[in-house]
Amino acid sequence: MNPPPDKHTLEQAGASDESIRQVHTQLAHEKPEQAGGGYAAYPLVLLGLMCSSIFFGSIYLAHYSSHFDPLIYNENAKPVAGGPAVPVVTPAMLGKRVYTNICMTCHQQNGQGQAGVYPPLAGSEWAQGSEERIIRIVLHGLSGPITVEGKEFNNAMTPLGTVLKDEQIANVLSFVRQEWGNTAPEVKAETVARIRAETASRTQPWTAAELEKLGK
Ligand code: HEC
Repeated sequence: MNPPPDKHTLEQAGASDESIRQVHTQLAHEKPEQAGGGYAAYPLVLLGLMCSSIFFGSIYLAHYSSHFDPLIYNENAKPVAGGPAVPVVTPAMLGKRVYTNICMTCHQQNGQGQAGVYPPLAGSEWAQGSEERIIRIVLHGLSGPITVEGKEFNNAMTPLGTVLKDEQIANVLSFVRQEWGNTAPEVKAETVARIRAETASRTQPWTAAELEKLGK
């Protein structure tokens, strides 16, 4: 029932096409400001910053982390005054861990041992004496009477040669010889290796009398 559009209506339609085009052009120009859900510059910059910090952070870690090696990340390491800012790890520092894990149960944290049961290492003439003797004690154990700092003990120390490697024995003895006011030179892993080889056939713990023959 719709009458065909007359000339007037067609002209009107042409006019409104023009106005629609105008509105579209306007909208197209306004687009950048209206694009709230699109790509705004600020979060993009943040994202870029995060990506680059992760990227350069990983490169830095790969170069300088040394795989977080416990030998390098040592809580006891103190920088030397005036020296390079590298952590300094001495054998005695490493030996402290072995001491804490193994020897401390008997010889105590303060190295004083336990009267009548476990002899002291602090101030001990044995601990600070010949490394020939103390390496043997740690390797194969010690039993029978022994006098330490003028006090008698007659007990037994467990052999630890199968538990501890040469380096660990050297480190723990270096610690014992330099802790609690003790002042004896470090023990080297090569010395432990040599004595381990020389005493390979030993199955029994040593006695103090036997070790005294090796000299102080
Ligand atoms: C199970 C207890 C026990 C443990 C663990 C132990 N010791 Fe001993 N240690 C003894 C006893 C007991 C003696 C004395 C043995 C005797 O009476 O003949 C001794 C003796 C010694 C001596 C010689 C005497 C002295 O006091 O100087 C040294 C050095 C020594 N131990 C070092 C160590 C070190 C280093 C460790 C750890 C690697 C260690 N001991 C672990 C019990 C222990």
